[in-house]
Amino acid sequence: MHRLQNNIAIVVGAGQTPGATVGNGRATAITFAREGATVLLADRDLASAEETRAAIEGEGGRASSIEVDITREDDCRRLVATCLERYGRIDVLHNNVGIGAHDAGVTGTEVEHFERIFRVNLEGPLLTCKHALPAMRAEGGGVITNVSSIASVAAATGLVAYKTSKAALNALTQTLALANARYGIRANAILPGLINTPMAIEGISAARGVDREQLIAQRDRQVPLGKMGTAWDVAAAALFLASDEAKFITGVLLAVDGGQSARIG
Ligand SMILES: NC(=O)c1ccc[n+]([C@@H]2O[C@H](COP(=O)([O-])OP(=O)(O)OC[C@H]3O[C@@H](n4cnc5c(N)ncnc54)[C@H](O)[C@@H]3O)[C@@H](O)[C@H]2O)c1
Repeated sequence: MHRLQNNIAIVVGAGQTPGATVGNGRATAITFAREGATVLLADRDLASAEETRAAIEGEGGRASSIEVDITREDDCRRLVATCLERYGRIDVLHNNVGIGAHDAGVTGTEVEHFERIFRVNLEGPLLTCKHALPAMRAEGGGVITNVSSIASVAAATGLVAYKTSKAALNALTQTLALANARYGIRANAILPGLINTPMAIEGISAARGVDREQLIAQRDRQVPLGKMGTAWDVAAAALFLASDEAKFITGVLLAVDGGQSARIG
């Protein structure tokens, strides 16, 4: 049985950082399509979104791409209008985009980088929701899933903008859930832990000048289940939250972290 049969899903950040493994947004878009959804693939990097489209169509799925920068309100407005023009409605809005570049802690972070991280990680999802919600309300329901991070609740030494923007995204998610429950719209957040994606591995090894294999081993050791997760683990959680199996779940911050957050108690 296809769990998203006949659904129209927008995945924002459906391309990915280049690298050896699949990214969270791409894996989620592919998973949604495998479960019967038609997926609108939004990304600032159109070529990368097109690679995701090729992967989906190569498996017989349905998808199209659109170039969108979620820090621009006009782009978010156009994203929703395009989805309605192409497909007539929006069932799922999956906000995957998140960045952390140049986050150097309280004393080291430049204001321009702090502001950029907040614009992408918090204001971007706010704007996509702002423009998708009227359509979802008119349709009588919908699902919003925001990709946060375990860093929002756990120790994240040296990070300030990333951690606080994701904590604010959690709060935004709960606000969305409560304000839209009466319209049949659910809103949840996924809090990935240490995931073996190019954004994390290639990104951090380049930024910190750490050997890739050493970084992988170091991250694996921090996970109670013994190994980092993959983007497919995040995608599986996204599929569950988007599906009717989660029809009584809203306002939840779902950790997908191999047990890391259980250490908080
Ligand atoms: N990998 C991990 O270990 C980990 C852990 C915790 C949370 N996360 C979260 O997972 C999400 C990203 O995962 P991913 O693997 O898909 O990352 P990714 O970097 O591979 O993909 C993100 C995509 O977002 C796009 N993007 C960036 N800025 C944009 C903008 N302003 N407008 C539109 N598109 C934009 C990029 O072009 C890219 O294709 C983020 O929210 C991140 O915080 C990841």
